[in-house]
Amino acid sequence: MTDFVRFPDSFIWGTATSAYQIEGAWQEDGKGPSIWDTFAHTPGNIQDRSTGDTAADFYHRWPEDVALMRSLGLQAFRFSISWPRVLPEGTGRVNPAGLDFYDRLVDGLLAAGIQPVVTLFHWDLPQALQDKGGWPSRETADAFGEYAAVAARRLGDRVPAWITLNEPWVAAFAGHYTGDHAPGWRDAKAALQAAHTQLIAHGQAVQALRSLCSNHPKIGIALTLSSVQPASQSEDDLAAAGRYDLILTRLFLDPLFHGRYPAELQAGFPGLFPDVRPGDLDAASAPLDFLGINYYSRDVIRHNPDIPWIQAEPVQPEGSPYSQMWEIYPPGIYEVLARVWRDYHPASIWITENGVPVPDGVDADGRVRDFRRTAYLLDHLVQVRRAMDEGVPVEAYLVWSLLDNFEWAYGYKMRFGLVYVDFETQQRIIKDSGHWFARVIRDHGFAAVKEQI
Ligand code: FCB
Repeated sequence: MTDFVRFPDSFIWGTATSAYQIEGAWQEDGKGPSIWDTFAHTPGNIQDRSTGDTAADFYHRWPEDVALMRSLGLQAFRFSISWPRVLPEGTGRVNPAGLDFYDRLVDGLLAAGIQPVVTLFHWDLPQALQDKGGWPSRETADAFGEYAAVAARRLGDRVPAWITLNEPWVAAFAGHYTGDHAPGWRDAKAALQAAHTQLIAHGQAVQALRSLCSNHPKIGIALTLSSVQPASQSEDDLAAAGRYDLILTRLFLDPLFHGRYPAELQAGFPGLFPDVRPGDLDAASAPLDFLGINYYSRDVIRHNPDIPWIQAEPVQPEGSPYSQMWEIYPPGIYEVLARVWRDYHPASIWITENGVPVPDGVDADGRVRDFRRTAYLLDHLVQVRRAMDEGVPVEAYLVWSLLDNFEWAYGYKMRFGLVYVDFETQQRIIKDSGHWFARVIRDHGFAAVKEQI
């Protein structure tokens, strides 16, 4: 007898993407530039010297891609709206052609029986707003509220689920502290302020969506969370892991769910504490219908006094399996779910991203045999089910990603898709993992034996 890992019939299965990573059409139909256009066009920022100018050409090929999703039986498709496609200057003038694109996409998905899950911000901030200070500036939150209202007025009668922000931690810290992402700053204080403005922006968007969407959609936010563990039981490493978790996890979840910043933030980093004004955290802690969790790996942390400010750094434990980017650690998704449920009790949890980069290629018979991806997804779903068995209310699982796409600072060398994309011809080929996932959706689960995948 093999164990069949079964999920509830109501469980939502889908895939996730983002605008800059798939759309292309970076200056078509009145779109304004985003900070990712600027960043990718600046030599030295993207490892393979590529850009998202064309990406997977989803802007033109979406009908074909919706048909592909339908053939896989996907129930939900997470995509993001490119803010500068809709508001080329970030605020003020609306670009009707940009809004029309998302309107048609939403209708196309609904007609195919697929729920659109719309992210408002997945990192492509309008360059015009960056020029006025970007996320470290409070005005950007007001602009986001305005943009959320524009999107809600147009799509808020049909979209069943919205995500305000994707991974504000990455936008704040990769964008403003390590400088690996747009806008490429290296300033810890700006990073913390960028985190705070995003929380205010999130609050404003929740308010706009609640008041303007006529179909009572589900509203959430997507955070990247990892299981943070000390590299040893030494006092230094334990403290370093605590600091890392403070910034990755509690900096966002405490305000969102408890309406306050952790006391350790002020105590530990007094000079960096953001400018918090009365009412900011009330708005940020408006009740959510679901918490989106993006999970990829764990972070094993050791103390390192040479790392400015946080004095903590992730290390790669020996003997673990790795992908091209991270350690593969399936129990971590269970650990994150159990911890979030224990400490924050969200109404519902959606896995809004989970996936793995594999250097896939097309075999002579035209198949893409990405066994490692299927094994990764299977192992993580077993752990998701384990958390659900213990009462954690997980209601959706979205694979990152539908298509191979532009993986930020790595460019196109990281392939995350269930569907292979030949970036020369834009041909799509469903990988073995995509066929497996389609069967999981159809059967509401899978046999937990690797020989059968
Ligand atoms: C997440 C991002 C997503 C994708 C995956 C691999 O941090 O939200 O856009 O790049 O990582």
